[in-house]
Amino acid sequence: MKEFYICDCNLHENQVITSSFVVVSKQAKPKKSGDLYLALTLADRTGHIDAKMWDNVPDHINVFEQDDFVKVRGLINKFNGRFQLTVHKLRSMEESEVEFEDYLPRTTKDINGLWQTLSNYIDSFKDQDLKRLVKAFMADPQIEFAYKNAPAAKTLHHAFIGGLLDHVVSLFQLCDLACRNYPEQINRDLLLTGAFLHDIGKVHELSFSRSFTYTTRGQLLGHMIIELEMLQQKLAQVPDFPDEYKILLEHLIISHHGKYEFGSPKLPMFPEALMLHYLDDLDSKMESMRTQFLRDPDTDWTPYNHSLERPLLNSKKFLEKIHASPVHESTGEQGKPSVPAESNGNANSAAASSTANTPVDNPSDVVTKP
Ligand SMILES: [Fe+2]
Ligand SMILES: [Fe+2]
Repeated sequence: MKEFYICDCNLHENQVITSSFVVVSKQAKPKKSGDLYLALTLADRTGHIDAKMWDNVPDHINVFEQDDFVKVRGLINKFNGRFQLTVHKLRSMEESEVEFEDYLPRTTKDINGLWQTLSNYIDSFKDQDLKRLVKAFMADPQIEFAYKNAPAAKTLHHAFIGGLLDHVVSLFQLCDLACRNYPEQINRDLLLTGAFLHDIGKVHELSFSRSFTYTTRGQLLGHMIIELEMLQQKLAQVPDFPDEYKILLEHLIISHHGKYEFGSPKLPMFPEALMLHYLDDLDSKMESMRTQFLRDPDTDWTPYNHSLERPLLNSKKFLEKIHASPVHESTGEQGKPSVPAESNGNANSAAASSTANTPVDNPSDVVTKP
């Protein structure tokens, strides 16, 4: 059992702590004197912290690498408003000493419940070809394990175990709502199949057994190319799959980042592709905001958010002031829908309720492209 978690830094400011972490990054840099110091990013399941080791660097520099687990003794202090750890002692740990779930963040939702929600959506498909294809993916035990565990991105959105599934279930719900507004234009089953496949290559693009990093294949190819290959392989198990659907799914995959500069070689060129791109972008950005507000719970304005390229105003917190005043006390209407229940498309109420507390997610994993 870990002795200290990064989320508890505020309880230990200016105190020496001893705890274990996974090494996310490690750099040796020169001090003014020319001697080296170590600049580290350490993590556990509750967050990341910058750490510096100023002394005895030659004794430690080769005893651990990125992704290793280390036991650290050091001082928690604040620098430029952020907690950091000044490392006094450090040793690498054996895997037998480590409980892996202490080190990787994980969705707070029930992963099997999310998988069931996804499955319920697929069962609702009217199109038997698309249903056969998605079911073939979901019946593959390796895909199931990876889809349930992969993060949706390395850092920018849904960067936690179960993040891919969390993101896709949220996206399914957005798609299901939005397509009702365009019944003549949108093929729901095609859109949802695109949503299921759009980031499935993350299961190979990212490694997520220790920390979240790009695999070599992920760095070199990216998830969209990997997805084309996964689709090709799976289609071999789905006889008589229409070529027209194959080519539309391939376009949904490669166009979902929406812009050339975000890695899509083609812009979305049919209605389902356009909708998938915008809803994916919306979901990822909303999750990015949610996690930024969690990281900075005490202020209205957050620091600069790199994925959204702007500082963010926590509007809910900002408005607490007026709702706390006696004049507004009795309103209490926040959070209630402003549209009649029947018009907000809650036909899949089970699915809707399963994500009621869920973050919606990030600015395009797009920007996560290496
Ligand atoms: Fe993507
Ligand atoms: Fe996505």
